[in-house]
Amino acid sequence: MNKTSFFDSLTEQKPDPLLELIAKFAADPRSGKIDLGVGVYRDETGRTPVMRAVKAAERHLWETQESKSYIGPEGDPAFLRALALETFGEHHGGRLLAGIQTPGGTGALRLAAELLALDKRRKIWIGTPTWVNHQAIFAAVGLQVGTYRFFDIGKQAVLDDEMLATLQNATPGDAVLLQTSCHNPTGAGLSPQNWLDIADIIAARGLLPLFDNAYQGLGHGRIEDAAGMMTVIETVGEAMVAVSCSKSFSLYRERTGAVYLFGDQHAQLNKGIGNLASHARASYSMPPAHGAAIVAAILQEPSRRHAWVDELSEMRNRIAEIRRAVAEAFAQFRPELANIASQEGMFSLLPISPENVGQLQAEHGIYMPDSGRINVAGMRVEDVASVAQRIGPYLA
Ligand SMILES: Cc1ncc(COP(=O)(O)O)c(C=O)c1O
Repeated sequence: MNKTSFFDSLTEQKPDPLLELIAKFAADPRSGKIDLGVGVYRDETGRTPVMRAVKAAERHLWETQESKSYIGPEGDPAFLRALALETFGEHHGGRLLAGIQTPGGTGALRLAAELLALDKRRKIWIGTPTWVNHQAIFAAVGLQVGTYRFFDIGKQAVLDDEMLATLQNATPGDAVLLQTSCHNPTGAGLSPQNWLDIADIIAARGLLPLFDNAYQGLGHGRIEDAAGMMTVIETVGEAMVAVSCSKSFSLYRERTGAVYLFGDQHAQLNKGIGNLASHARASYSMPPAHGAAIVAAILQEPSRRHAWVDELSEMRNRIAEIRRAVAEAFAQFRPELANIASQEGMFSLLPISPENVGQLQAEHGIYMPDSGRINVAGMRVEDVASVAQRIGPYLA
């Protein structure tokens, strides 16, 4: 056998641009630098703190947990029940549901994608722009991906006609990826009428919705943020939901999430979960337990849950306050950017060229990815006006 290196024969992979941005920001010695690229919630002091309810739950677990023995590929049933109740309410759209715990929202999306890819005829429809990892996840399992334009950056408006027309022409059986709330990267929300229209088309065409639910509670409220998703679940035959606890419980590195399947018969759901569990078993065997145990300990105990609800509201209110300030300051340069106030969640997308993103970084120490996505929670309210003055001249 010749001695050529297998590793050397591999295609070189580009580092993740967002991770590169974080490293570049850290190495920048300027004191006035600002990181708007980061994908995590930041408080007024620029920290991403452990939530008070999480600390209380960890204390409780430390005192009471008796074993760290294996729990199985489906994860912790108490976590799955508590998270389902919190996410979908007691009525859960009048459908039956079943869930499986996953390593974060990414793990949930990947597992759901594996399930869809069992039928290679299926395509999944994704509105663009979207979270950068979506395309990669679906490509990794060999699913065909169809795209449609979701958002007009210049107008800061959802292209609902294009979205509905695309779904209208999708092939029965195709899947549709929908972000439940706080759209990444645009912040754009859908109107109740949009959701009704989507639900009707999905039901009429026999499509399968896959919700990416990563920010529930950070937009307009825990129940409000799920309203559109629940409209669809009530109307359609089957649905899948990938839930991430990373942002809403600030558990990022604990890798906590779940996939839920909705339908009308236990036997069908059990088959679905069985397939998801067998994929889990063959890839990571079982999900990490600690984050899910924290979430269960919070949601099952009223005082901890109360503390969590309060802190989530504080986070949401801070985001909304910065949004109002950002909208006012940026609208002086582009009137359409006033829409940032009514957008939701941490992200908005600025009309700015990649070249100008680079210039901003070099000249002003303001960091964002080439796409122009900003994390509004990366700013303090009192800094918004000066940040806008520096960014404004670079907008397209
Ligand atoms: C839209 C969206 N979906 C899913 C995720 C996955 O989050 P995680 O895997 O960290 O739970 C993210 C994280 O940034 C996201 O923005």
